[in-house]
Amino acid sequence: MMDNTRFPENFLWGAATSAYQIEGSPLADGAGPSNWHRFCRIPGAIHNGDTGDVACDHYRRWVDDVRLMKELGLKAYRFSIAWSRALPDGRGKPSEKGLDFYRNLADALATNGIEPFVTLHHWDLPTALDDLGGWANRDSAHWFADYAHLIFRALEDRVRYWTTLNEPWVIVDAGYMHGVHPPGIKSLEKAPLAAHNLLRAHASAVQAFRADGKGQIGLVVNLEPKYAASNALEDAAAMARTHAYMNRQFLDPVFLGAYPDELAEIFGRDWPRFPEDDLKLIQEPIDFLGINYYTRSVVRSDPSSPPFYASPVPQANAEHTEMNWEVFPDGLKSCLLWVKRRYGDVPLYVTENGAALADSASREGRIDDVRRIDYFRTHLRAAQEAIQQGANLKGYFAWSLLDNFEWACGFSKRFGLVQVDYATQERTPKASGWFYRQVIESNGAVIWD
Ligand code: FCB
Repeated sequence: MMDNTRFPENFLWGAATSAYQIEGSPLADGAGPSNWHRFCRIPGAIHNGDTGDVACDHYRRWVDDVRLMKELGLKAYRFSIAWSRALPDGRGKPSEKGLDFYRNLADALATNGIEPFVTLHHWDLPTALDDLGGWANRDSAHWFADYAHLIFRALEDRVRYWTTLNEPWVIVDAGYMHGVHPPGIKSLEKAPLAAHNLLRAHASAVQAFRADGKGQIGLVVNLEPKYAASNALEDAAAMARTHAYMNRQFLDPVFLGAYPDELAEIFGRDWPRFPEDDLKLIQEPIDFLGINYYTRSVVRSDPSSPPFYASPVPQANAEHTEMNWEVFPDGLKSCLLWVKRRYGDVPLYVTENGAALADSASREGRIDDVRRIDYFRTHLRAAQEAIQQGANLKGYFAWSLLDNFEWACGFSKRFGLVQVDYATQERTPKASGWFYRQVIESNGAVIWD
């Protein structure tokens, strides 16, 4: 009989971070500046004028941080490579010192029995490439494939799990549609081009991997199930548009070889004609899909709000995190099952899931973040139900290992299993960190206690 209180054998339990959010020392050892390094210097761009100049100082404290991961019992660690450490100018001459940082980190993880799960690009693009138009430039696919190839070779004996891009939707929506992330562009014309080039970049990197990489490679998307505010036809249509834009824009081309029809409707005259060959390339098969899940949204039709003609409907009575994201565990289950229904039985990883909460003050060194424990517990229950209903879920990564630099929100939002005191860089595991350790030790059984 199947034991329904545990996750499958060899389930990969980990925690996730990304380079710019934790490393600090952005220009150390000859690294080039990234788009985020530059964006943080624009007055008003980041809450409180915060920057990633120091962040969690992980670039200098990584030995201690690996020890911390071991203490928390992690089986895997998802981190990203800073492109401009490996290639200070984005292209051309690599920096061995930059590559060594990641070689050493991967070695230390191996020594501690922690599986590295590497993201090639988690939003920090070298400024040298940003200056050439970034992802709106068609050449970006080649820049990325060359960079990927370099990293595959540098880490090939050390890393078995790879992902190309983290959340291309956010890169495009925040960076090219709404201008709240670098490159700070608001353009209906550039956004679909950037999205398309990100997909070409992803597929070109997968092809480079097939030529000489080792292990498995996938893509990471953020999914947010959309619910219509009512049964009215116009609300259902508004829901379908936002769903196509956010959840299907990247997955339909990868798995089905075509963009959702709704996108042409949304972008109108700005919707480009893409070469057929590009869509063939984009379908390059992947070994698994990474899903980042945080929340859902309820939408209604809104004629005054182009180009989606949809608005979110706040769920006043529901619980929300500090990001003002509704806590909705069932959405995780529905995402996992939706992917299987629509795209087939691809192996899945939850590559991020977690909650920003103002942590309760430490009492005798204990940070009792009960709400975060509850968030993990309820979401893991939802994940397990999805497995029981057929989702091929292979692993789960909590976001995040450490409190860190939350992009435009600066340090104001804390997602960590471990608290970081930014004045002293002292790390203190929260109660949720110790809870997560028990989750891992029991292979999930404690979530039902
Ligand atoms: C995701 C990002 C991650 C982090 C979480 C809260 O969109 O991938 O870096 O900021 O949100």
